[in-house]
Amino acid sequence: MSQEQQEKVVFVGTIASSSALDQLNVFKGFISVENGKITKIGSTAEYNSRETSNELSGYKKVILHQNQLLIPGFVDCHTHAPQFPNIGLGLDRPLLEWLDKYTFPLESKYVDVNFAKKIYEQVVQRLIKNGTTTACYFGTLHLEGTLQLVECIIKYGQRALVGKVSMNVKNDANYYNETENELNEVETFIQKVMGCKNNLVAPVVTPRFAVSCDETLMKGLSEIADKYNCRIQSHISENRKEVEYVLSTNPDCRNYSEVYDKHYILNNKCIMAHAIYLDEDEISLFATKGVSIAHCPASNTRLKSGLCPVRKLLNNHITVGLGTDVSGGDSATILDAMRRTMDVSTHLELLENMGPALNFKEVFYLATLGGAKALRLDDKIGSFEIGKEFDALIVDVYTNGGQIDQYEYSMDENEEHYLLDLLQRFIYLGDDRNIRQVYVKGRKVKDLS
Ligand code: GUN
Ligand code: ZN
Repeated sequence: MSQEQQEKVVFVGTIASSSALDQLNVFKGFISVENGKITKIGSTAEYNSRETSNELSGYKKVILHQNQLLIPGFVDCHTHAPQFPNIGLGLDRPLLEWLDKYTFPLESKYVDVNFAKKIYEQVVQRLIKNGTTTACYFGTLHLEGTLQLVECIIKYGQRALVGKVSMNVKNDANYYNETENELNEVETFIQKVMGCKNNLVAPVVTPRFAVSCDETLMKGLSEIADKYNCRIQSHISENRKEVEYVLSTNPDCRNYSEVYDKHYILNNKCIMAHAIYLDEDEISLFATKGVSIAHCPASNTRLKSGLCPVRKLLNNHITVGLGTDVSGGDSATILDAMRRTMDVSTHLELLENMGPALNFKEVFYLATLGGAKALRLDDKIGSFEIGKEFDALIVDVYTNGGQIDQYEYSMDENEEHYLLDLLQRFIYLGDDRNIRQVYVKGRKVKDLS
């Protein structure tokens, strides 16, 4: 356990945290943290009175300055750690071609555990640097390689869900597993991750998608998820050709979701990436079963997959979080996913009358509490609430060397606007240079201060 976790720390300054899609709270005040958990939250006046009465004498104090913000850590609901070496490559191809030509050949290399370790070390550090305190990862087919990813996550102190990818349908790259072997390896993987006894990392059952997994495998995986009470993650309805192919190989199913539902994959611990072309029946099935969606705007655009109607999904009571989906996505940062979510939503408003477009407050929610809800971690993280674990970022909006210039120097005129503008500018223009400190369960995992 690190020093920070044991210490009592009080953070004082401007705090921003969402409690719902339409409920953003920005205020000046304090948060006290003990053993990684939030114990008190209050206003500046309450902080001052506690200071006066010496209540905070045992606390280490972290005082933010006027252009800094304390916000919850970002949640990346969908990314492929092994695909980082391909970031920015092959994006002129549609999904199924891109998988065959670029992705499966790269993922095959993770049979080499040393290669896996080298790449995963970089990936985990990159995400932490960009403020991703929680990530939901796809690994590869390989048991040992994916355990290397778990090791790196534990080493650098990130919170994560990690899946060993399951596939048993032959492809050109010969990248698949025999069914029985695959099911055995998934169980071993789950047991090993659970055996780490690290309360920040959990396994997630990961059938790649209906194109790569036959009925026997999907059924077996849903039984394993049930046995170990694990989450399940997969892809759905990302690309028109993919949907056509899945329907042609499953003629008894009326839609893509039925293919998964038939094998008990869809439940309230299931996170599906993309979900661009769901029909009305599928949307209500997702809502009834409590299936979450990881919205991945970067890869949806880069691979020309389509425009996901996130507003419509939210209006239909589906839980949505954001995913970077590297390397279909060309950016590993959730700040970029927030901006692209706004862009896609604006295009849908302009072209399809599917507005109003999501605004910066709403995408901030999706990047934090929305993501935590999608991963069923909102009892622990996603917002600042007493009893939750302290996953947080200290952001310096006008930091030296950053992208954001300061034209307005005073918060005297309208303090509320000044504070909201700090957050707004960070969301539209910020990058890793603005993220000065990152905390996961009270432990400092990045420090530029
Ligand atoms: N569908 C199945 N596998 C993948 C993948 O690796 N990336 C994306 N974007 N879609 C997929
Ligand atoms: Zn993906």
